[in-house]
Amino acid sequence: MSRNERDSREAEYIRDVFATEDGELAAVMPDAREKGLPDIAVDAEVGRFLQVLVAGARASRVLEIGTLAGYSGIWIAKALPADGKLVTIEADGKHAAVARSNFERAGLLDRVDILVGRALDVLPELPGDPPFDVVWLDAVKAEYPAYLEEALRFVRPGGWILADNALLGGRVAAEPSDDDEPDVVAMRAFHRRITQAPGLVSTLLPIRDGVTVTAVIDPAAARAS
Ligand SMILES: C[S@@+](CC[C@H](N)C(=O)[O-])C[C@H]1O[C@@H](n2cnc3c(N)ncnc32)[C@H](O)[C@@H]1O
Repeated sequence: MSRNERDSREAEYIRDVFATEDGELAAVMPDAREKGLPDIAVDAEVGRFLQVLVAGARASRVLEIGTLAGYSGIWIAKALPADGKLVTIEADGKHAAVARSNFERAGLLDRVDILVGRALDVLPELPGDPPFDVVWLDAVKAEYPAYLEEALRFVRPGGWILADNALLGGRVAAEPSDDDEPDVVAMRAFHRRITQAPGLVSTLLPIRDGVTVTAVIDPAAARAS
């Protein structure tokens, strides 16, 4: 068996055994595409990974930045207790409306608050208390460094900050050059910050387009650095 065949067999096995979508989840992105939304949600493997961390943290409050049609949000909300809350921020009113109907169809609307607005306008208005257990970044890549500083205000010690598209299709790991686009420059700066700030322990998992995982040990120390 060639390396490529083995990789695709293994990917299929992982999907089938660890990341099976139920009917509601499977319907979200085909329906969103039909309504004209872009096909840029995470995949089922990342969805399951989010669930594992949310469940493992015994999270009851999760913040998502970048809702789209609610695909990753549904994975997250399903891992919350019945009285838990996913607060999800979305700049585009049409995306937010589609997400709302998907959360409703999945029977999860009572544990989701959709905040419509640009993240950098909404985040400073969010109170730091009660804190969030997990923060999931998936909106404007060039804004990740700014999202991080806001997130450090309201993630509890022992919580997680997770971020999607950490590899930006191979552009982040390429040889740096003066022509690098702002999202690549910002992503590298975000990676430096989450790996070098005191009070944070981070890694990058090469699943799909890369997901960074940051254990937040001492957010105040990280903020002050
Ligand atoms: C990659 S998609 C999110 C995918 C979603 N997390 C999922 O996996 O199902 C990014 C979303 O962020 C939204 N967005 C773009 N700019 C934003 C901003 N400044 N603030 C908040 N959301 C924004 C886009 O409209 C889009 O719906």
